Amino acid sequence: MRRAKITVVGAGNVGATTAHWCAAAELGDIVLLDIPGDLADMPRGKALDLMQASPIFGFDANVTGTNDYADTAGSDVVVITAGIPRKPDMSRDDLLATNAKIMTSVCEQVKSTSPSAVVMVVSNPLDAMVQRALQVTGFPPQRVIGQAGVLDTARYRTFLAMELGVSVEDISALLMGGHGDTMVPLPSCTTVGGIPVTQLLEPSRLEEIVDRTRKGGAEIVGLLKTGSAYYAPAGATAQMVEAVIRDKKRLIPCAAYCDKEYDVGGYYVGVPVVLGTGGVERVVELELTESETAAFHKSVAAVKELVETMATLV
Ligand code: LAC
Repeated sequence: MRRAKITVVGAGNVGATTAHWCAAAELGDIVLLDIPGDLADMPRGKALDLMQASPIFGFDANVTGTNDYADTAGSDVVVITAGIPRKPDMSRDDLLATNAKIMTSVCEQVKSTSPSAVVMVVSNPLDAMVQRALQVTGFPPQRVIGQAGVLDTARYRTFLAMELGVSVEDISALLMGGHGDTMVPLPSCTTVGGIPVTQLLEPSRLEEIVDRTRKGGAEIVGLLKTGSAYYAPAGATAQMVEAVIRDKKRLIPCAAYCDKEYDVGGYYVGVPVVLGTGGVERVVELELTESETAAFHKSVAAVKELVETMATLV
């Protein structure tokens, strides 16, 4: 059986750690790409280092590093992590102009070298970057997806497990909206071992946890000082890669293109989807409470504003 080919664009912390999780899970052969320049050899160095861990952990995956998109040709999945990360005083939106330019040039290359790939965007500001990836590649929207909901949900599940003193495995949760301060955790879709979370936590404590989740990325940026989170973002991305490569039909939140769905009108926003070989196989529409609907549409409005600003920039 032919191994899947996974390209990761951007060999920084998120890209390299995504390659690590994907290789360890034997999801396929991995090409790690970064731009030429002073650190042109860096992706080759990280790839070789990762390969040399394979006998220890017993995974079979060829991991190669490159600066040349020709080496990525025919990828099944292309993960895009390229872009500058946030500094402590920056919001994700402050990255817009720089990262939109980077996204455009990456996607022009991806379009010609891997025309059948499922593209997963991780770069920030996420909801705008994935819209740009759709515009530039011209791929069907099902094959252009943004990573955010799995990460945000993982943060929410972590905080709930810490609060309740239970296994993270027993927390099942859902989070919708943009990957920003307006994201919408859904207590109505959060259960702990099948028990609605609202039976285990006071509304005020739950609201504090929801708030910490919304600010989860900034909390890490504030601690690291020199960049943003990468273990959990990369783990979330690898889970999405696995869903596509292994056709798992995972029902997880992703930034997906929504037109009539939830009355979004042609933007990317975090919604529950079924993820399999073809990318987003369907967007799951669920009934939200009145306040959840209002919060979701506030989040969609923030995403629209960001995309409109991007259109005026580059
Ligand atoms: C975060 C950044 C990577 O949420 O968006 O950590």
